[in-house]
Amino acid sequence: MHTVSADSEFLERVLAAGAILVNIGDIDILLEQILTEARFFTNADAGSIYTVEGNVLSFCHSQNETIISRGERIPYTRFTIPINKSSMAGYVACTSEILNIDDVRKIPEEAPYSFDDSYDRIACYRTRSTLTLPLTNNRHVVVGVLQLINAKADQREFIPFHNSMEPLAKYYATLGALALERAMMTRTLLMRMVNMTEMRDPKETGPHVNRVGSYSVIIYDSWAKANGIDEKDRVHNRDILRMAAMLHDVGKTGISDIILKKPGNLTADERKLMEKHCSIGAEVLRNCESAFDEMARDIALNHHENWDGSGYPAGLKGKKIPFMARIAAIADVFDALSSQRAYKDPWPDNKVTEEMEKLFIGKFDPDLKVHLISQLDALREIKESYPEQ
Ligand SMILES: [Fe+2]
Ligand SMILES: [Fe+2]
Repeated sequence: MHTVSADSEFLERVLAAGAILVNIGDIDILLEQILTEARFFTNADAGSIYTVEGNVLSFCHSQNETIISRGERIPYTRFTIPINKSSMAGYVACTSEILNIDDVRKIPEEAPYSFDDSYDRIACYRTRSTLTLPLTNNRHVVVGVLQLINAKADQREFIPFHNSMEPLAKYYATLGALALERAMMTRTLLMRMVNMTEMRDPKETGPHVNRVGSYSVIIYDSWAKANGIDEKDRVHNRDILRMAAMLHDVGKTGISDIILKKPGNLTADERKLMEKHCSIGAEVLRNCESAFDEMARDIALNHHENWDGSGYPAGLKGKKIPFMARIAAIADVFDALSSQRAYKDPWPDNKVTEEMEKLFIGKFDPDLKVHLISQLDALREIKESYPEQ
């Protein structure tokens, strides 16, 4: 029987993968990266990652090379699994044990868990081997579960995961758990800033800023791939952009309720005061100490600048507008048009697309148009993940 086994190259790959996780601050980017790196060093065709939320495992992210190579999208599903021993992921979350299964269709009847083939049926996929790992922190608490699917001997043959991989894979999962805890804390802090903004402006909700963060990353990623940006820079930029874009309107905390909550249109003077939210945001984010601070400040200050120079606060034109602010501006307007607001219903998809296309003349960077239009399906999937409460 073929197996993928652990050797010194494997050790090097695990260490390199762990080092990447330590530098990621955003939780969504981190979950994706924990899975990407683990699939790389175990040579797994597919995988899923879950986080523990109360007494359930929440499915966060999945990858599948075979489905992608067929030119298909991975079916979007959002579900939770009870933390008990009846499923493989639940068993691992309950026991903190690694579960290494050579063939999920040959699980002995006396095993407490069984294989649920609903994903295989929906995706026309055949799971054979799985390696399911607990993401356990240094207090021995399971914060998530990582499941790797179908180790590959070559492009076609799926084989078991070799037992010798388990200790290093477990070590990697612990690094993942620690990074995950830190990212959860960062997200909580960011959401507290966002909650303060929402108290002033009810449009700036948690789901809105999460969608703007995720949309920005998708548009950036499409651009970065098309422009040959190195993988390491791409991961770093996606990470800080995901968080920085969330703070685009943090300056609204400094705008009076009389203006923010005024029903009907603002007068010219009131609009001028409202426009100050950009410079107030930049002020809140002054003393840049990291690439994240700098990007967050750039976005807060410049997300209402227009490509033709007609925006505010400075009337910057074209490439003088920081690149990430150009991206966040597109994400923010796309979300405003496609979402429910107190004063409007969400626009239908075709009307949103039509309006966005028009705005690429004058308002948005025209080079980014293709990176919005080609990613509309992905953006709409994100929308499902962050519904308004
Ligand atoms: Fe704004
Ligand atoms: Fe916004």
